[in-house]
Amino acid sequence: MENKNLQQRDGFSSKLGIIAAAAGSAIGLGNIWKFPYITGRYGGAAFILVYLFCIALIGLPVMLQEFTIGRRSQANAISSFKKLKPNTPWFLTGWLGFITAFVILSYYGVVAGWTLSYVFSAITNSFAGQDPEALKGMFGGLVTNPLKPIIFQVVFMALTAGVILGGVKNGIEKYSKILMPLLLAIVIILDIRAITLPGSGEGIAFLFQPDFSKLTASAVMSALGHAFFSLSLGMGTMITYGSYIGKKENLGVTALQVTIADTAIALLAGLAIFPAVFAFGIEPGAGTGLVFITLPNVFNQMPGGYIFAILFFLLLSVAALTSSISILEVVVAYFVEDKGWNRKKATIIATVAITALGAFESLTNGTINLVLPLLKGGVVNQFGFFDWMIEMSDLLLPIGGFFISIFVGWIMTKADLDDEITNGGELTHSWTGIFEFLTKFVAPLLILFTLLNLIFGWF
Ligand code: PHE
Repeated sequence: MENKNLQQRDGFSSKLGIIAAAAGSAIGLGNIWKFPYITGRYGGAAFILVYLFCIALIGLPVMLQEFTIGRRSQANAISSFKKLKPNTPWFLTGWLGFITAFVILSYYGVVAGWTLSYVFSAITNSFAGQDPEALKGMFGGLVTNPLKPIIFQVVFMALTAGVILGGVKNGIEKYSKILMPLLLAIVIILDIRAITLPGSGEGIAFLFQPDFSKLTASAVMSALGHAFFSLSLGMGTMITYGSYIGKKENLGVTALQVTIADTAIALLAGLAIFPAVFAFGIEPGAGTGLVFITLPNVFNQMPGGYIFAILFFLLLSVAALTSSISILEVVVAYFVEDKGWNRKKATIIATVAITALGAFESLTNGTINLVLPLLKGGVVNQFGFFDWMIEMSDLLLPIGGFFISIFVGWIMTKADLDDEITNGGELTHSWTGIFEFLTKFVAPLLILFTLLNLIFGWF
């Protein structure tokens, strides 16, 4: 467990384990907390279509690129670039991912803390008998409290560190396998309840009838950023996980399965939220609290709601955990393999630093007033620091993805690439040409275009 060396890397033990762990990383707060609130903020169906477009044309190829880099190099996000292209600045792409991991995990831990705190609210039956306004106040009360969210954030981060200390097989893999299917089952039950609520029709229309006039440059940027966020791409998570995948696995099929599972859960989460948002007269653009305000209303309206509420927030916490460990692993793998630290030291130092940053962010939700300028559709707007960090990560991930695409498309040799995706010539793929076209041209150009459009506000 201590000091994994490169000859004997810890790895995933079974095919199901790989998919469960990679899907566990992808499926998390991004699907159930973030996807619905940004869909609400940017107007629904048209935003979702752009998002799906980004998933198919950019996300899926980038996932396969990351798996390829990781398995080829058998190394973490930073040294993989050093190994595949020694003595070049390409390792800076890994560094960018390292920084992004810090940014993401800092606020991710806070939101996961809110989720944990809602497990206790559910257990103490605090939602019962509350109207939508009161449930909104309850959420506001939590996030603006100076201490409570930080206590839960610290608990969550300690759990994350605990799993990371257990190593890959005993930690990450064991937990992912059992709990993700359970979460899926609960979300489907919530869908059924939400769709059958009186007044749900407007929410269904919001999800399925696109109005393209609502698409702004920042909406498109958010859709792209979220495609990266939701699939855990652009910062080396899937490079790190790719390095743990066995040489016999079919990387292309694995990438496809993870992408489909992740996208399905996000859409199912949207279907659980928006019919309820409209049925209860909640503001779709309510922001980071949307899920926490909407779903307790749904639980209040269903038989067995008390139990479902507990289970839901518990499983969402677990989904967050299987994602947060994959973010922390990027940082820890680097310290262990490149700096020679032992796993314990690396995990503790990284966790304390990230938790401290997150606690500060949490304070800016109420106690500290910190507003920063932000590029939004060609103009500079003001944004609270907590949202600002979220937007930052949505910007950093596609930038990382841009360099990863260029690296795989133009820098790595074609022979290396083909060798890795075909397992040394054992597999034949009909899609190799399409993948290479997406990698070389489509993905990097679309990312570049979206970034420039955000800066110059072309449309
Ligand atoms: N994909 C995770 C989620 O949807 C978050 C994440 C982002 C994980 C980036 C790893 C890397 O919650």
